[in-house]
Amino acid sequence: MPALVLLGAQWGDEGKGKATDLLGGSVDYVVRYQGGNNAGHTVVVGDQKYALHLLPSGILSPGCTPVIGNGVVVDPSVLLSELSGLNERGVDTSKLLISGNAHVITPYNVTVDKVTERFLGKRKIGTTGRGIGPTYADKINRVGIRVQDLYDESILTQKVEAALDVKNQLLTKLYNRRAIAVDQVVEELLGYAEQIKPYVTDTVLVLNQALEEDKVVLFEGGQGTLLDIDHGTYPFVTSSNPTAGGACTGSGVGPTKISRVIGILKAYTTRVGAGPFPTELLDEDGEALRRIGGERGVTTGRDRRCGWFDAVIARYATRVNGLTDFFLTKLDVLTGWEQIPVCVAYEIDGKRVEELPYSQTDFHHAKPVYETLPGWSEDITKAKSFSDLPKNAQNYVKALEEMSGAPISAIGVGPGRDETIEINSFL
Ligand code: GDP
Ligand code: IMO
Ligand code: MG
Repeated sequence: MPALVLLGAQWGDEGKGKATDLLGGSVDYVVRYQGGNNAGHTVVVGDQKYALHLLPSGILSPGCTPVIGNGVVVDPSVLLSELSGLNERGVDTSKLLISGNAHVITPYNVTVDKVTERFLGKRKIGTTGRGIGPTYADKINRVGIRVQDLYDESILTQKVEAALDVKNQLLTKLYNRRAIAVDQVVEELLGYAEQIKPYVTDTVLVLNQALEEDKVVLFEGGQGTLLDIDHGTYPFVTSSNPTAGGACTGSGVGPTKISRVIGILKAYTTRVGAGPFPTELLDEDGEALRRIGGERGVTTGRDRRCGWFDAVIARYATRVNGLTDFFLTKLDVLTGWEQIPVCVAYEIDGKRVEELPYSQTDFHHAKPVYETLPGWSEDITKAKSFSDLPKNAQNYVKALEEMSGAPISAIGVGPGRDETIEINSFL
C-alpha cells in the first residue's frame, strides 16, 4: 500500500493533524498538496501541543520526510518562523522538502486578500486573511511567483513588476490604498531565498522515485471537502482542491498510485467563516459543543460555528473523494447528552432530499431532518477498543457508519496520540 490520502470530510478542523501524526511514525513521507498557512492542524504529543499551519504534520515524526508539494502556496516568512519555532522546541526540521513549483504568497497577495474582504462588506467570505485566494488567482492568471523564481533576480523582478502593474491600479484607484513598490517586494523575497534554498527540490521526482522503491507516502489535506473550490459550498470555500483529486495535481503523483483515501470526520460538525451550514446550532447545545470541543480556530482564533452531525455531507464526502475509510474524531465531546440528533436528510422547499443538492439556492434552503439517537454519560477517553465503549456510543458509531457510506476504521476519544480506538489498520 504505497500511497494514502488523509483529508477533511466536512468544513475543516476535523482532526487531520492528529490523524496524520498518528500515522507519521509508520510512513516515509508526509506531503501537503494544497492550501497554505490558512490551515491550522493541532498535534498533541504527550504533554506537548503543536499548532502547524504550513508544515506537514509529519514533521513531528523523526523518521518521516515532510514535503510541501507543488499545489501548496508558501508564505516564506511564515515558513521560516514556523521552522524556527519548532527548532527552538528541539524538533529536527532538516529533512523538509519544498517543491520549486509551489507558488509564493507575496506581501501584496496578503494585502489584496484583506482589502477585498473589506470591500465585500457583509458579502465577505470570512477568509483567514493569509493571501491564499489572491495567490491562487495569480497562479491561474499566470502572473504568480514560484519558489524557483526566488533564485533568479531578473526573472523575479520582471514577474513582480507584471503582477504589480495591475494590482497597483486596483489598490490605488479602486481600494484607495497606497501603491506597493516593486523593489521593496523583490528585496523582501530575496531576503528569504537563501534560507529556504536547502529545502527546495523537484518533489515530483522525489515522490515518484520513493513510490517506485515501495516507500509509504501519506498525503495530508488542508481544509475539508466542503471548502473545496470545485466540490464545496462555493463561493464560501477556499481557493484550492482539498478533495482527493487535489492530492494528485498538488504532488505530481498519479491516481493509480493511491490505494486508500481516509476521510477525517468529526462526530458533530463545525465551520469557520461565512456560508451555509444546515445543522448549525445557535442555542445552548451549540455553545456546549464549542466549549467542550474547544472549538476555536487554530489560525485566526475565531469561534467555530457548531452543529449536529450531518450524514448528507458525510455521504457526499464519500462520493467525491472515493473514500475507503473514515476516521471518526471527537466522539468524547458528545459524552453527556441524553439524546443526540443526527441529520439524515434535508427538507428543501417542502421536499425530502437525501443527497447534497448541487444548486447553491437549494442548499441555502436546506433544513435538516433529524433522527435522534440515545446518548451516553460514561467517560470514554480511556477506551482502547470498540467493545470498551458504552453500548449507546457503539450504536452511535454504527449508525453514522451506515449513513455515511464507508467503514469507520478509527475513533478519536481525546486529542492525544494514544486516545484513539483502532478498528482496521490503515497500513
Ligand atoms: P485539523 O485542522 O483538521 O488538523 O483540526 P484542528 O487541529 O484545527 O482541530 C481539531 C481539534 O480537536 C484540535 O484541538 C485537536 O487537538 C482536537 N482533537 C482531535 N481529535 C480529537 C478527539 O478525538 N477528541 C478530542 N477531544 N479532541 C480531538
Ligand atoms: P484546516 O486545515 C477551517 C476557511 C476560512 C474561510 C474560507 C476561505 O485547519 O482544516 P481562505 O483564507 O482559505 O481563503 O478562507 O475557508 N478555512 C478554513 N476553515 N479550517 C481550515 O483549515 C481552513 N482554511 C480555510 O475560514 O471561510
Ligand atoms: Mg484546523
